Amino acid sequence: MKILMVCLGNICRSPLAQGILEFKIKEKGLSWTVDSAGTSGFHRGEAPDKRSVKTAKNHQIDISNQRSRIFNPYDFEVFDVIYVMDRNNYRDLITWAQNDEERNKVKLIMSEVSADEFVDVPDPYYNSNGFEEVYEMLNAACEQIVLRYT
Ligand code: 4NP
Repeated sequence: MKILMVCLGNICRSPLAQGILEFKIKEKGLSWTVDSAGTSGFHRGEAPDKRSVKTAKNHQIDISNQRSRIFNPYDFEVFDVIYVMDRNNYRDLITWAQNDEERNKVKLIMSEVSADEFVDVPDPYYNSNGFEEVYEMLNAACEQIVLRYT
């Protein structure tokens, strides 16, 4: 599987999602490709937000080597599934997709946990207390992602 995690800045949520999924697939000995990107290039080239790095570290996951990049239309070809964190990310990617095959690759990540409602992973950028909650949500979703594709 080739999975891309997408949020707005690619410094808070999607780097955590990438780190959590990489940790789980390593545990299972799976050779998947996991990456992350932002719908914006505001933080291009930057390491993840310190609060995301610390939250990951509290759970034995090192995301400090990741660097923010902007989503590239080529990502629609490279990846099998593109998980977005919230409905703004979803709207942006659906707008950029060129055809149904590309549109069908885009999924709200929390739909893996609660299929009948639209649940956003809240943007923790302006809420320093929100990072652990984001971790817990993404951990639950990544657990389901591993189950779904193995
Ligand atoms: P992320 O969080 O989308 O989870 O990486 C954000 C990071 C930066 C900004 C917004 C959200 N920003 O406006 O700079």
